[in-house]
Amino acid sequence: MAIERTLCILKPDCVRKNLQGAVLKQIQDAGFKVLGMKMIRLTPETAGGFYAVHKERPFFGELVEFMTSGPCVPVALEKENAVADYRKLIGATDPAEAEEGTVRKLYADSKAENIAHGSDSVENGRIEVAYFFAESELIANQ
Ligand code: CMP
Repeated sequence: MAIERTLCILKPDCVRKNLQGAVLKQIQDAGFKVLGMKMIRLTPETAGGFYAVHKERPFFGELVEFMTSGPCVPVALEKENAVADYRKLIGATDPAEAEEGTVRKLYADSKAENIAHGSDSVENGRIEVAYFFAESELIANQ
């Protein structure tokens, strides 16, 4: 299996609930290497650009509003098979459908406020990591 990158965002609900450490521990315990991490507050432009693929969806406005409602923590992760393994770790978008023990089942309130983002493909993993981090900010390159 190939080494992949995937982007986690610990969303504003995660930060409001003080769960950054708990979720990150679960991620690190599963073998993911943290290449980079920062706490930022997204602007409507940054959040809208990141989720541009969802622009036509009825929930786009709500998504951007939520993602700009407080600080969040983008985390660049690396591991063999990172994209699929991370998606399994966080669970289904809707916490009601997520498997027991997954991050979203444990901590999320709804589809909109679902604690953590994860890239949905290997290609998007690379693109999304690059959206938030310059190569020089990632520890693999230092
Ligand atoms: P995320 O993995 O960050 O990628 C897109 C996000 O859109 C998703 O998590 C959800 O938080 C959000 N989303 C998806 N479907 C809905 C929905 N029906 N209502 C509100 N938000 C949604």
